[in-house]
Amino acid sequence: MSMKRIIVVGASSGIGAAIAAEYSARGARVALVARREEELKARCEELGAPITDPNQMPIFRAHDVSGDDVQEVYNEVVASLGGIDVLVYAAGVMPETAPDEFNSSKDRQTVLVNTVGAMQWLNCAATDFQERGSGALVAISSVAGDRGRTGRPAYCASKAGLNSFMESLRNRLVGKGVTVLTVKPGFVRTSMSEGIQGGALLPVVAPEVVAKAVYNGVQKRKNTIYVPGRWRLVMWIIRMIPGFIFRRTTI
Ligand SMILES: NC(=O)c1ccc[n+]([C@@H]2O[C@H](COP(=O)([O-])OP(=O)(O)OC[C@H]3O[C@@H](n4cnc5c(N)ncnc54)[C@H](OP(=O)(O)O)[C@@H]3O)[C@@H](O)[C@H]2O)c1
Repeated sequence: MSMKRIIVVGASSGIGAAIAAEYSARGARVALVARREEELKARCEELGAPITDPNQMPIFRAHDVSGDDVQEVYNEVVASLGGIDVLVYAAGVMPETAPDEFNSSKDRQTVLVNTVGAMQWLNCAATDFQERGSGALVAISSVAGDRGRTGRPAYCASKAGLNSFMESLRNRLVGKGVTVLTVKPGFVRTSMSEGIQGGALLPVVAPEVVAKAVYNGVQKRKNTIYVPGRWRLVMWIIRMIPGFIFRRTTI
């Protein structure tokens, strides 16, 4: 699979930054997109330090995915990169939500960033990849999208919506040479997961572990991957728990 030019949306920190670093280290030209310009600049300088070929230098573009200028920004970034082979959507938010809180403002922002922003960016690349008959679309979802938990309902719903959107894209595009990869990490050590404790069976992993899994998943043209892989079995069991029992648990 050709992976020469890649856009990572949500690349200023955490999983997106690690994916940008993984692809850059493997010789791809990377465009980093997110809101925090200073963070993007710093990431670009780090990635660019060992690179001598000007055609491989990483670039960045500050952008808020909840705006309605996605197509313009996409066109601009693709023109600067000289084309696109892989689009990774890693932007996401998970606002703190108390167990008895119902907050539409937080929920709206969650769905705007995690789902609507993803649809907008993925649609732009899907149009190009469909026409060309190649390319890879990747979305960083979460195990949280597999079941409606009592904690953070909008986060679970935003990821469930993203999973369903990715499945539809895959069903449309798989016969046209396009890879559509849904990534479902468990616990990953980033600012989003501060305070989350893993365990021996389900540890908190480094963002670099997810980045490697994404690279391998794209190369092998996978549909859906769990990271670490044992989450697939864990979520299968959790999905089998009847609703009247599940709602009594703290899962
Ligand atoms: N950490 C975990 O345990 C875990 C587990 C499963 C799934 N995930 C998913 O992994 C993805 C990455 O999260 P992370 O853990 O790496 O956390 P993170 O370090 O907070 O990264 C989130 C990224 O999203 C970007 N972002 C947020 N709002 C944005 C907006 N309005 N416009 C543009 N970019 C925006 C942030 O950049 P700016 O703030 O600079 O805009 C940042 O680059 C998320 O989709 C998250 O749901 C995380």
